[in-house]
Amino acid sequence: MPGIAIISSQWGDEGKGRIVDMLSSSVDMVVRFQGGNNAGHTVVKGNEQYKFHQVPSGILYPDVTCVIGSGVVLNPEVLIEELDNLESRGISTDNLRISCNAHLIMPYHIIRDKAAEHRLGKSKIGTTHKGIGPAYADKALRSGIRTQDLQDLKIFKTKLEESLKLNNSIIEKIYGLDPLDPDEIFAEYVKYGKRIGKYIVDTTFLINEALDRNKRVLFEGAQGTMLDIDHGTYPYVTSSSTVAGGICTGAGIGPGRLDEIIGVIKAYTTRVGSGPFPTEENGKIGDYMREKGHEYGTTTGRPRRCGWLDTVILKYSVMINTIDSVTLTKLDVLTGLEKIKVCTGYKYEGKIYNDMPGHQTIMHKCQPIYEEFECWDEDISRVKNFEDLPGPAREYIKNIERIIKVPISMISVGAERSKIIMRDDNLKGRLFDQTGRSTLII
Ligand code: GDP
Ligand code: IMO
Ligand code: MG
Repeated sequence: MPGIAIISSQWGDEGKGRIVDMLSSSVDMVVRFQGGNNAGHTVVKGNEQYKFHQVPSGILYPDVTCVIGSGVVLNPEVLIEELDNLESRGISTDNLRISCNAHLIMPYHIIRDKAAEHRLGKSKIGTTHKGIGPAYADKALRSGIRTQDLQDLKIFKTKLEESLKLNNSIIEKIYGLDPLDPDEIFAEYVKYGKRIGKYIVDTTFLINEALDRNKRVLFEGAQGTMLDIDHGTYPYVTSSSTVAGGICTGAGIGPGRLDEIIGVIKAYTTRVGSGPFPTEENGKIGDYMREKGHEYGTTTGRPRRCGWLDTVILKYSVMINTIDSVTLTKLDVLTGLEKIKVCTGYKYEGKIYNDMPGHQTIMHKCQPIYEEFECWDEDISRVKNFEDLPGPAREYIKNIERIIKVPISMISVGAERSKIIMRDDNLKGRLFDQTGRSTLII
């Protein structure tokens, strides 16, 4: 069972980092395969909190190799800050590897991202302003610059000058901003290249060889299924393939290498930025979820939009990613609500859609159809066994399983590493019993 994927099933921020960190005690390698420093993954270990943007969430384990794969767009300045920060906290970064094919986020990408959003005004996407869209656009245009270019400065200079011609004319002529100086960028990136050069390798071989040797490789998704460039709520999406299929292209493995796809689902729904959100709660309920769940962006600090669980989205996500099992997070946040609602369909112009409608207007304008469930008042943050959860919490979980038809194998009831309920009959047996390594330590 060597290839395991952790995929976000909603609009991101479900707690992927927290789950990857917990599972990393039983794996050999953790691989990020897409996205960039738009991601913000929070890990809580005891009283310590770590926020990862580009470094894989397995980095807290000294024996785990952490890979930034080819499909990632990398901001080297931010990476260096992350590495310095980890090292100053006594965490070794020696086991980090960066793909020689990963594209670099350049200063002009960040300027273009901000300027494009500004120009869109009210219609803005609500990006993280990290330059993600323009970096992927340059990659698709074949004018991107890769980490390996930092190791051949002649090529790097030529590519930078060429790319800057186009980027500067966009910055000046379209956005009316000052052009950037190639020499300044060159000097800055040469410095970054010296600092991160030792980590740059061909990670495709590294990952495939690890799988060949039956090592356990965890693929850590960033963003979420509904933010996928092809399958999400376009154009209110990010610019990469966030779904399980993105692992193949982003890490350089064939589909047969993936043995277990774990979908992470938050017990309610959140989204940051613009775009349709049928179950959004703008009043008291949304505020309750936001405050109790600390729903403020890890990367931008923006308040996250909050609402009820939407199984139309979840069923779609299960299908697109072929999710084998689910990890439900933040169940503790719902404690104390009067009742819990779960969306099972969208109503639009008299018609009911139980599956994702083919036209996005429906998602923008529909009325969600809800099933209602009882809530509970007991503190569940110390519960270790499913049977010890209050009856309504168990009912909530069983009903989600009934609707989405996938087993919920892990339930997270707190941000801290150990606050997890493993359901023996599902994931634990499949993933951890046949290993040569120690069983899951949490
Ligand atoms: P990611 O982007 O999917 O890794 O998620 P984020 O780290 O951006 O957001 C999830 C937030 O919820 C983080 O602050 C986590 O520490 C926190 N968190 C994760 N799981 C739980 C949980 O079960 N309960 C509570 N209360 N917080 C959690
Ligand atoms: P993690 O990995 C939640 C959202 C932005 C915006 C859209 C496009 O922490 O779950 P971009 O900067 O990518 O061009 O922005 O995507 N977004 C995220 N939302 N979690 C994330 O990452 C996100 N990364 C990007 O808010 O709506
Ligand atoms: Mg996040």
